[in-house]
Amino acid sequence: MPDSTHGVVMISGASRGIGAAIARDLLAHGWSVSLGCRAPQQVATLSPDRQINCQYDALDTASDERWIAQTLAAFGRIDAVIHNAGMMIPRSVLEASDDEFDQLFAVNVKAPMRLSRKVWPHLKLSGRGRIVMLVSLSGKRVKSAQSSLYAMSKFAALALAHALRRLGDEDGIRSTAICPGFVATDMGTALTEIPAAKMTQPEDIAVLVRTLLTLPNSASIAEIPVNWTVEDNY
Ligand SMILES: NC(=O)c1ccc[n+]([C@@H]2O[C@H](COP(=O)([O-])OP(=O)(O)OC[C@H]3O[C@@H](n4cnc5c(N)ncnc54)[C@H](OP(=O)(O)O)[C@@H]3O)[C@@H](O)[C@H]2O)c1
Repeated sequence: MPDSTHGVVMISGASRGIGAAIARDLLAHGWSVSLGCRAPQQVATLSPDRQINCQYDALDTASDERWIAQTLAAFGRIDAVIHNAGMMIPRSVLEASDDEFDQLFAVNVKAPMRLSRKVWPHLKLSGRGRIVMLVSLSGKRVKSAQSSLYAMSKFAALALAHALRRLGDEDGIRSTAICPGFVATDMGTALTEIPAAKMTQPEDIAVLVRTLLTLPNSASIAEIPVNWTVEDNY
């Protein structure tokens, strides 16, 4: 990208939670953002010159092409994509139906794989393309029965981030998986009684994302585990 403050970043699921915090942070630090949201008309525009809100549904296999085209029309380049849109179905692998499996994998795994494939030529052109996958500590370990179906999808999402990291090496594309424990969003607070104030804050994740976008190609970071508490390994 031209310099560290003028890149163009696509963020999926930017209507609320972690995605919205990433958008606010990047806008405040001079980036241009293209927000992919299911209901873009309901998303606040903080910076009309450097922000567009586009319709994107991870379950609509054509919406990513429209979103990419709108981003190029508005800003002329794409330097980074933040795969943030995601869902949690709190079911164990023994309880989950085939339909629940398919839905979870469609949103958490297939959609970021498809979007990466379509945006790849533009990241290559950037010379310092960045991919950030919002994975989870559930992509690193299976913490509970209730989270086990979700964990399967996030293990796959982690593999996707590593695969893209390998593929992008020669072209200056750096791919990183951020793996948080509980984050204080609608998703995080619905899953546990832990007070939101104790959890990792969405704004903390936003600082990590901005750091990944700002670092030069010589700093290739595979994973960032980040936890609100201390577990044996995380
Ligand atoms: N919160 C946590 O504790 C936690 C921990 C580890 C990892 N993560 C991961 O971090 C990411 C963001 O989570 P969050 O906590 O911010 O969740 P959230 O508050 O539930 O927000 C989820 C976001 O994803 C969007 N989304 C869901 N399904 C979508 C679809 N089919 N197409 C497009 N957008 C879709 C939602 O859009 P709508 O507003 O339209 O519903 C919303 O913007 C997810 O990948 C999640 O798995 C979260």
